[in-house]
Amino acid sequence: MDLFDKCNQFKEHRLAQAAGIYPYFLPISENHGTEVTIHGKRLIMAGSNNYLGLTKHPKVMAAAEDALMRFGTSNNGSRFLNGTLEMHVQLEERLAKFMKKEAALVYSTGYLTNLGSISALMDKGDVVVLDKDAHACIVDGARLSAAEVKRFRHNDTRDLERVLKAIPAKAGKLIVVDGLYSMEGDIAPLPEIVRLAREHNARLLVDDAHGIGVLGQRGAGACDALGVEDQTDLVMGTFSKSFASLGGFIAGPKAVMDYLRHHARALIFSASMTPASVAAALAALDIIESEPQLRVRLKQISDKMRNGFKSMGLEVGSGAGTPIVPIFIGDRVKTMQIWRKILDRGVFVNAIVVPGVQPGRDLLRTSYMATHQDEQLDTILRIVKEVDAEVGLALASASNTATPPGVPWMSSPS
Ligand SMILES: Cc1ncc(COP(=O)(O)O)c(C=O)c1O
Repeated sequence: MDLFDKCNQFKEHRLAQAAGIYPYFLPISENHGTEVTIHGKRLIMAGSNNYLGLTKHPKVMAAAEDALMRFGTSNNGSRFLNGTLEMHVQLEERLAKFMKKEAALVYSTGYLTNLGSISALMDKGDVVVLDKDAHACIVDGARLSAAEVKRFRHNDTRDLERVLKAIPAKAGKLIVVDGLYSMEGDIAPLPEIVRLAREHNARLLVDDAHGIGVLGQRGAGACDALGVEDQTDLVMGTFSKSFASLGGFIAGPKAVMDYLRHHARALIFSASMTPASVAAALAALDIIESEPQLRVRLKQISDKMRNGFKSMGLEVGSGAGTPIVPIFIGDRVKTMQIWRKILDRGVFVNAIVVPGVQPGRDLLRTSYMATHQDEQLDTILRIVKEVDAEVGLALASASNTATPPGVPWMSSPS
């Protein structure tokens, strides 16, 4: 058998493309902040992770431009060798302070941060314990390590306790959870997870890629919002969401950061964040720290949309107060068909289907920015209502919960 046979036989995406319901890799030709142009048509963007709307903020753009002019387009090397700028170090110091940790370490993407940190920390004989819905890069980092990987049911602390109890006392243990879950918009029960970690002598890493900048009094994320900042061992974030840039970081004890600096292959063997990306992240951090009104506005927007969808009788899940507002459809093809109808009416949302979510949890992921105008939000609500009246967005029946056959477009995150 030829290695490429599977590629030649892979047709599912072409079927969806032919049916006009393929929702991925849409090329954006213009970015107007809360609106984008795709195939010549201007759309309201309700599917971005630019939660604070900072990618077009004048201060963030000016900082990136200045760094570009001073340092050029690339650092041409890894942090380990020739690719560390004073700005990287400054960003790490600022983040450590912001996250109330001893130190921080900046990687080139959020994905690499989890991949590199988890795989470097976990050795043979250790056990890494993951929430069933943990992000793909957490799963990949755990799998890359020599440690045993165990899972517990999503946000189910009883199940976590069951898993922890079964691990030998002498094994090194790391629990990894998302702070704010990226697809369903719900928050981890961190106080209870912290308690269990302590009771079972496990360390805890919170991936707060979506929460930092958005949640908490200071905008420091889910740990800030739930009052457990000083009780988590490690916290991870990315710059590709509220920070309006590209890159990622982990923060925690200085000894752990020093260890990762010298053991994380994804850090050592990959080129560093570009000058413009570092400068943009620093400028965004300034804004996160000094403009809490952005978070207040984002929460208002999120509540308006969640309540708006709920009042139409739609299933939006258990998340509350977060800018990720899913509309559960529960059927893969129907999710893509509805996605297309909403797109045709002028709104970009994301279609998330199995295996990106659990079977029967196919959803339209809507997400919001602090810069959305009420008029745009009302338009989104009106369009969703129209499409609901036309085809019915109510959650599909449980009979649809089987994993559909065929090759998935995305490799399973779990
Ligand atoms: C929870 C979570 N962790 C990590 C990442 C990876 O971050 P990045 O896209 O910045 O590499 C993402 C991004 O999708 C995420 O949602």
